[in-house]
Parts: sequence; structure tokens; C-alpha cells
Amino acid sequence: MTDAAAERTSRTFTTIGVIGLGTMGAGIAEVFARNGFTVVGVEVSDEAVERGRGHLTHSTGRAVARGKMSEADQAEILGRISFATDLAALAQADFVVEAVVESLEVKKDIFRRLDDIVRSDAILATNTSSLPVTEISTANSRPGRVVGVHFFNPAPVQNLVEIVRTVVTEPGVLADVEGLVGTLGKNPVVCGDKAGFIANTLLFGYLNHAASMLETKYATREDIDAAMRFGCGYPMGPLALLDLIGLDTAYEILDTMYKQGRDRLHAPVPILKQMVTAGLLGRKSGRGFYTYD
Ligand code: CAA
Repeated sequence: MTDAAAERTSRTFTTIGVIGLGTMGAGIAEVFARNGFTVVGVEVSDEAVERGRGHLTHSTGRAVARGKMSEADQAEILGRISFATDLAALAQADFVVEAVVESLEVKKDIFRRLDDIVRSDAILATNTSSLPVTEISTANSRPGRVVGVHFFNPAPVQNLVEIVRTVVTEPGVLADVEGLVGTLGKNPVVCGDKAGFIANTLLFGYLNHAASMLETKYATREDIDAAMRFGCGYPMGPLALLDLIGLDTAYEILDTMYKQGRDRLHAPVPILKQMVTAGLLGRKSGRGFYTYD
């Protein structure tokens, strides 16, 4: 961690572990590296590591191309990130963020395995969007040291991080994580452990409704998106945003929220499932509601 970053947190965090280097994990790794932390990124295979490295090079390269970052700074940031395919590489981490697929079993297995690996004073976090943090935390023998840290997509750009506390999260741990998020230049907000947390609970009913409008041919995709961009000042329309989030991810989030709350707002509209089944996942697959190069 750089001296400037050290001054801004109550506890000294030096080494950050990020498990999973997909869109979100790579974005989170970039955020920490940009802020001077040493980052260890862990993926399941060499191929997955290379994909993660590709996300990081592409994202920082974009900042270089826009004149927002020098090539030397890019090299320094990427140089702070090391890669591994074994969780054992996280032995010295002060803070570990898990950002793997939204599967409760996979996440619980990781938290179980971290027990024998991480230091006893390490803080563990999951970037889940909608799974129960409490259940993930109890797979570990120190659930009091586990929180949710929910970054938003694209992580290097969106300035919010939701910190999810469970009934057993230690208050000191919560305060340390709030401090850490502050050092990243992000706004921390704290909430309880309920599917969707604050932002997705409010956002996804709206996104689902937009997909329903398209499904019933009430309006075109362009007009639905234009209405919210130009009428309400949103940076992008709901269908473009669904493509950014990924339709598979959006479906899973809605489905989880629906099963937990039984609020019809969150019952995923059929077109979402159909598009996921057809492989139309949004930006990441090249086609969703729109087509991408
Ligand atoms: N990775 C890194 N940086 C990115 C990026 C990406 N994927 N996409 C855009 N950026 C950066 C650009 O480099 C640019 O940076 P500078 O200003 O420093 O040059 C900046 O973001 C703006 O980008 P653009 O000019 O290309 O495009 P834009 O102005 O249209 O912004 C956007 C693009 C940031 C995506 C903007 O449209 C936006 O904020 N959209 C809403 C995104 C949103 O709502 N995210 C939350 C989704 S919900 C979620 O994530 C929760 C969940 O659990 C699923």
C-alpha cells in the first residue's frame, strides 16, 4: 500500500486477495491496484488467469488510450498484481474478496477452504449480488470476520460499495472495511443481509419491467432506453444496462430476490430466461438486447 492510502485507513491493509477474475473480480483487482495495494488474483486455471489478465490489460489500456493514465502508471499498476491458481497464495492477505460465480455451494466451499489458509486476523468478503452472506460466512470458522462487499459494474467507474453486515459481523471488522472502501475513493453504504441489498432491490424491479415492456411490444428497445436516458437523466437505458450487467447475472439476481421476497416485481420475465437459454447474455457474449462488436 502507498503511504497516501495508509494514512486513510484505521487498520493497515497491505495485501489484498481477489478470488475470481471475471468482469467483476478483475475490476475489483484493478481498483485495489490503482490505489497502491498489492493484489493477489486467484483463478481456477491458467486459462482463466490469462482471461483475467486480459480484462486488466484491456481496462487499463483503455485509460491509457483516453490519455487518463500514462503507460508507466499502467505498468506500475499491473506490476502490483500477481496471479495464482491455488488459494494457498492468499496466506499473507489482509483482506480477501471472493468474486466467483453466483453459486452458494461454490462460494461456501471457498470460504471453508480459506479457513486453513488465511491469517487469523484477515477479513474475508464476498462480492455476491444476492446470495445470503450469513450462509456463506458460516462455512468459515470465523464468521464474525466475514462481510459482503458489493461493487458495481464497471467496478473501476462506479463509486458505490455496499457493505453487508450479518448478525455476527464484528463491529470492528465493519469499521475497518468501511475505512478500506474509503481509501479506494468509493462511497461505502452499510445494510443488512437481504437479497438485493439496497441498490439491486430498487434497481431490478425497474429493469425487469423494462424487459416486460419490450416483450409485450409496448415500445421499441430504443424508445424504452431513450425514455430513461433523456427523460430521467440515467447514464444508460435499462435494456443497455441489462446487457452490461449480463442477462444471466440479471436473471439469477431477480430469481433469487423473487424466491426470497415473493414480490411479483422481481419475478423474472420470460424473455430473460429465453435469451439466457439462447446464449444472448449481453455485452459479454456479443449480443443481448443489442449487438456488440
Ligand atoms: N471498465 C473500466 N472503465 C470503464 C468501463 C469498463 N467496463 N466502461 C467505461 N469505463 C470508463 C471509461 O474509460 C471512461 O473513463 P474516463 O471518464 O476516465 O475517460 C468512463 O468510464 C466513461 O465511459 P464512456 O465515456 O465510454 O461511456 P459513458 O460515459 O457512456 O459511461 C458507463 C459508460 C460508465 C457504463 C455509464 O453508462 C454508466 O455509469 N452506466 C450505468 C452503469 C450502472 O448502472 N452500473 C450498475 C449496474 S448494477 C450492478 O453492477 C450491481 C449488480 O449486482 C449486477
